[in-house]
Amino acid sequence: MNSNPSRRDVVKMAGAASAAVGPFIQKVRAANDQVQYGFIGTGSRGTYLLGHLAKIDSGRCVAVCDLDPAHADKAAGVIGTNPQKFKDHRELLAAKNIDAVLIAVPLYEHFRVTKDALEAGKHVFCEKSLVFKPEEVHALRALVTARPKQVMQVGLQRRYSKFYQAVNDMVTKGVLGDVKHVYAQWHRNDVFRRTSSWTMKPGGRTNPGNWRLFREFSGGPAAELASHQIDIADWMLGSTPDFVVGVGDTSTIHDGRDIFDNLELIFKYPGGRKTIWSGVCTSSHLPLLNCTRTEMGELIMGTEGSVHITVGDDTHPATAMWFPEPPKPQTSTSTEKEKEHKAGATMVSVAAGKSLPILLSKDEITSNDGFVNKELKFARRWLYNKGVMVPEEDKNPVDNELEGFLQCCRDGKRPLADVEVGLHDSIAVMFSNMCADQERRVNFNEIDKLGLAGAKKA
Ligand SMILES: NC(=O)c1ccc[n+]([C@@H]2O[C@H](COP(=O)([O-])OP(=O)(O)OC[C@H]3O[C@@H](n4cnc5c(N)ncnc54)[C@H](O)[C@@H]3O)[C@@H](O)[C@H]2O)c1
Repeated sequence: MNSNPSRRDVVKMAGAASAAVGPFIQKVRAANDQVQYGFIGTGSRGTYLLGHLAKIDSGRCVAVCDLDPAHADKAAGVIGTNPQKFKDHRELLAAKNIDAVLIAVPLYEHFRVTKDALEAGKHVFCEKSLVFKPEEVHALRALVTARPKQVMQVGLQRRYSKFYQAVNDMVTKGVLGDVKHVYAQWHRNDVFRRTSSWTMKPGGRTNPGNWRLFREFSGGPAAELASHQIDIADWMLGSTPDFVVGVGDTSTIHDGRDIFDNLELIFKYPGGRKTIWSGVCTSSHLPLLNCTRTEMGELIMGTEGSVHITVGDDTHPATAMWFPEPPKPQTSTSTEKEKEHKAGATMVSVAAGKSLPILLSKDEITSNDGFVNKELKFARRWLYNKGVMVPEEDKNPVDNELEGFLQCCRDGKRPLADVEVGLHDSIAVMFSNMCADQERRVNFNEIDKLGLAGAKKA
């Protein structure tokens, strides 16, 4: 191949790359090899997850359950396996043909349904934020610890993204230097583009469809939005926070909700590490990733470089950009070069402020690659570096998390987003609201004393 291909050649070549891979072919499995699962809570998220599960053949949905029969009917149509329908989750849990359940009920119901499912001997996937109250932290930990053979996974899908995994690899291998700070935001313009989940429906507090908007049922933006990103900060900074301070109020949307409509948080971690989280409802601008995305993203900052990253959505896949710090005065040593290679990412000398794509394993050129494959990878990387194409994940992290759950049910392994990941995340959510409500610094070791009496009764 010409060592200096024209842009047109390369675009053609990269197109050929996708054609060569061809459509995704499902592996056929014997029916008895599939995990038989039930789905509890088939509202917005439940139906979305079922749409993804419909394409995964390592499990089979045999039952769905929702308080609202219309939601169960819709879900049954989405999964298309003619599942049995239930209104009461305890009846679904009594079914002997069900190995596992996935739970996407509102936050205030997570613990009750999860507890019943664990006690019924099922493997459990429960959406984030895993639990709602301090007593539930202690009670769920005890329930899961007593059942080491049952899988307990939380729906924090960023942990299942190849990009987030690659960036975490860069952090642990020192490619970003000393990572001391994370900035994360989830900004939405609720004034002009409010989604139905965040819109007050008639009936106010008495309408179950409004659960997200009332503190009796919901943790507001801390639970629904920040939970994902605090978990990423904990993962990248390698620990849980020491304390959180923050400010929140309901100053823009006056429709009777009592959750915050905006919240700003600072988490302090050991060793001077910090995370700033911002959640505003008056702008969707995201000053990361060359402003090509809106709303949510994270900035992971190290002494040797920073990363912009977002998980995206179904329309905009996960993506990340790497901004190495300007070169140091001396040339890099061979040890530094070795370090760069270990992270599975390719480093080139970069002008100050210039970004580099983060390459996933699919773009790494290996000695096993044949001539055509090498040329295709070269073409893709050339396009990434020219900014014509951005590397994107082949698979939605949601597919990975669901496949991962079913796999753990089959082989008994511990999930990446396990009960401790979920509980630490839930504690951070509760304390985020608490620090703003009580206008004080909340120390994370307060959980050791909070809710202990309630945990015994839970
Ligand atoms: N991981 C993510 O990115 C993500 C995204 C959206 C929502 N979620 C989480 O998913 C959960 C559900 O959110 P949603 O947006 O789907 O809410 P939703 O209101 O659209 O759906 C909740 C459903 O649960 C049903 N339900 C309530 N109590 C029930 C019970 N005891 N038994 C059976 N069904 C019951 C309701 O009738 C409703 O159909 C929340 O915890 C939310 O935080 C996660």
